[in-house]
Amino acid sequence: MKKKWWQDAVVYEIYCKSFCDSNGDGIGDIQGVISKLPMLKELGVNCIWFTPIYTSPQVDNGYDVADYRNIDPDYGTLEDFKTLLDTAHKMGIRIIMDMVLNHSSDECFWFKESRKSKDNPYRNYYIWQPPKDGKEPNNWGNYFREGNGSAWEFDETTGEYYLHQYSIKMPDLNWEYEPLRREIYDMLNWWIDLGVDGFRLDIFTRFKKPEGFPDTKRVPNPTLDRNGFVVDPPMCTNVEGIHEILHELYTEVFGPRDCMTVGEGAGVSFDNAPAYVSQGREEIDMVYHFELGNRSKYHISPENFRKVQKNWATIFEKNGWAVQYLSNHDSARQVSCYGCDSEELRVPSAKLLATFLHTTPGTPFIYQGEEIGMVNVKYDTIDDYNCCYTRGDYFSMIKSGISPKDAIDTLAPKSRDNARTPYQWNDSVNAGFSTGKPWIKVNPKYTAINLENDLKSENSIFKHYQKLIQMRKDCPAIIDGDIEFILDNDEQIVAYLRRCLRQTLLVVANYSKEKASYTLPENLKGVKFNRLLTNYDNEEPSINGNRELLPYEAEVYEIVE
Ligand code: NOJ
Repeated sequence: MKKKWWQDAVVYEIYCKSFCDSNGDGIGDIQGVISKLPMLKELGVNCIWFTPIYTSPQVDNGYDVADYRNIDPDYGTLEDFKTLLDTAHKMGIRIIMDMVLNHSSDECFWFKESRKSKDNPYRNYYIWQPPKDGKEPNNWGNYFREGNGSAWEFDETTGEYYLHQYSIKMPDLNWEYEPLRREIYDMLNWWIDLGVDGFRLDIFTRFKKPEGFPDTKRVPNPTLDRNGFVVDPPMCTNVEGIHEILHELYTEVFGPRDCMTVGEGAGVSFDNAPAYVSQGREEIDMVYHFELGNRSKYHISPENFRKVQKNWATIFEKNGWAVQYLSNHDSARQVSCYGCDSEELRVPSAKLLATFLHTTPGTPFIYQGEEIGMVNVKYDTIDDYNCCYTRGDYFSMIKSGISPKDAIDTLAPKSRDNARTPYQWNDSVNAGFSTGKPWIKVNPKYTAINLENDLKSENSIFKHYQKLIQMRKDCPAIIDGDIEFILDNDEQIVAYLRRCLRQTLLVVANYSKEKASYTLPENLKGVKFNRLLTNYDNEEPSINGNRELLPYEAEVYEIVE
């Protein structure tokens, strides 16, 4: 496979609303991002993924797009965006945009027209169905579970229902309709003409709906997953015909423009991933899966980590490329979920997680704030929560008789708002994010956890990220190497070799809160190692005998002889 720029990349995800506010209105904006580009350069990343910054009523913080060719005034103007593109490019940083093509906002011009009449030219841009026996066309539920929880909303004007897998205000687009597809291709090409380097494709596995809209079998007593969804068989995920849609997108837009794509792979696992991302398929470049950063688990065992990494490495051994991430704007904070956010262990565990993500095969994605070890937040009242999942679940729980305190206690650790609190720049008012009232409350931990502190300390999480990113540039095995796990049955230690023709690296980590010892396998005894990286401030040890690691201690060695 010919090397692509995104295989060398380290991607940094920016949730613009919470990153940096330049004009004091309490909302992060593009000028704020521009002012912080030097910090990203210093960190070493070379690609930014912007969550949606298009014009939007912000029902789902921008994932409800009203104008696909403009910037929301809260974030700035198209001119600001062009300045950002230009400045970032001059600094060697590429920009990828989040493209939401499963649905739009109901305030999008297309939908406003579509709902006007059955013969409106935009009618078929969306999915309309007549009532069935006077009710919804089928039993599909929506992921945000508003109102009666149906994925269909009745529209008085024409007496039909429209489909919305998410909010009532986010109608699904009709990919069967060619004029809509053409409109989308033009729009994507327009962004590429402007200079964007790629797209993150929101929820691409749900573009295609099952023929005839059949009922989905509902679980009789639905259980709730960590985000409170009703766990139903996925009604519109990976439906036959999805590959044709993606292939057309590729041939009409991404392929000819050599434009990078990374898909949000809900419903994608290692067995169906190659059908989307193998090179010959001509669909998309990369997909991120939910098997590690799984929203329904707070814990990854060493066994699970090995299993998932091995599965993905095996399918991508010859063809395909992985994404490494543990959290993003849709999850809680990675150090709180998969590490430990206690005062003592926050720093080593955040560094250990980063070490995993930057030394396993694929492209690492950093979510803003991870590089300073930002942690989960807990608000006392639902009024302080913004996320539609959290709010929807809260009100369903209250309806079913659960007390407000118990509801908050259950929902707080998993709320997406954990990841959406303002970036903690320093210990001044509002963590240096804004001079106005932030749109969502700052995490009170900002006085201790902030970038300024991290920049001052040689052993900070930020400095560890810098070293990891530099290592990616210096060590060919990180990008080109295969992976072989050793000490395979250990319940605390995760250890692997990364090997290419020019180099072999060994990563050894104690993925637990207790001390752990290991002895290297026979074939590695007598080998000479040179330690490249550690997450504790200690002398380089000899690892040929029996070595004890501190809680969450993680080291990277190069084999020198
Ligand atoms: C996935 C996005 O990451 C999430 O934030 C959004 O709510 C849904 N897709 C719907 O667009």
